[in-house]
Amino acid sequence: MEKKNIDWANLGFSYVETDKRYVSNYKDGAWDEGELTSDANVVINECAGVLQYAQTCFEGLKAYTTEDGHIVTFRPDLNASRLADSARRLEMPAFPEERFLEAIDQVVAANAAYVPPYGSGATLYIRPYIFGTNAVIGVKPADEYQFRVFVTPVGPYFKGGIKPLTICVSDFDRAAPRGTGHIKAGLNYAMSLHAIMTAHANGFDENMYLDPATRTKVEETGGANFLFVTKDNKVVTPKSSSILPSITRRSLIYVAKEYLGLEAEEREVSFDEVKDFAECGLCGTAAVISPVGKIVDHGKEICLPSGMEEMGPVTKKLYETLTGIQMGHIKAPEGWIRRIV
Ligand code: PLP
Ligand code: COI
Repeated sequence: MEKKNIDWANLGFSYVETDKRYVSNYKDGAWDEGELTSDANVVINECAGVLQYAQTCFEGLKAYTTEDGHIVTFRPDLNASRLADSARRLEMPAFPEERFLEAIDQVVAANAAYVPPYGSGATLYIRPYIFGTNAVIGVKPADEYQFRVFVTPVGPYFKGGIKPLTICVSDFDRAAPRGTGHIKAGLNYAMSLHAIMTAHANGFDENMYLDPATRTKVEETGGANFLFVTKDNKVVTPKSSSILPSITRRSLIYVAKEYLGLEAEEREVSFDEVKDFAECGLCGTAAVISPVGKIVDHGKEICLPSGMEEMGPVTKKLYETLTGIQMGHIKAPEGWIRRIV
């Protein structure tokens, strides 16, 4: 199969239209059999539930070309179950998890020419989502939905690749204490747009959100969980019922313990202890692990000892081990890698 003529090394994190996407529609209480289509446009009623009351949730995962030339996805079963959790919280029908996996396989295989080659630094980002399609004007769930999966080749999420980021403590909250912070609802991202634009206007790469109830504990950023390393090399990730359960973060905790022999714990992290950590990173599918060099809290700077030039040593080992597993040169735990081609 011949690859598309794309400058893989210089791809940013943006949308490139590819050849095929998967579509299945839900009507009269059932999902139809679904199919691949070439049509990149969605035509829905002007009063569709997604347009009026933001009834939509999504996932994000990647396909990789391994060292030996296969195309694989990383733990897609966890995206399938998280999308189902998100859908249920938004009163939407879950898409059957086994069918989710097959749909992803089909879209990736149909767009194999867009899967960046091994070693290019780029990957194929996969975006599955569900949204309410029929007209709803009273505040209530739609009766009809579409499940759709498109793919787009991407480079690093943050410009500058793996250079340490400068982030700020946000004055905005990302999630309510008993709200929707733990699911991947479009509404969580809509309400974060003003906060991220404000952070960028002030010269920061990202926001650190604190817990909405007390504003004393670290939550996450707009698109990634936090990972910290203590001065005695323990990996710590914040635990909260209002953050997204990141698949990358869960995988990194396992990698820290089982591959690197480190202690790793998920627990509440108070903002006051951040100044004592040795390393900080943002972890997620898009971000992989992006190192943080500086955290600014209303003019007060916390400079991580790992500095502004490179990733800290533990973050780097975690990064190399995780990407090594994804690219196939480090043996993966059972069930983590799904081979498509
Ligand atoms: N937190 C938020 C708010 C996100 O949008 C994402 C991205 O998916 C993550 C964390 C990281 O999750 P994952 O590692 O499953 O991609
Ligand atoms: C991801 O990491 O997959 C995300 O969804 C983050 C962002 C692009 C929303």
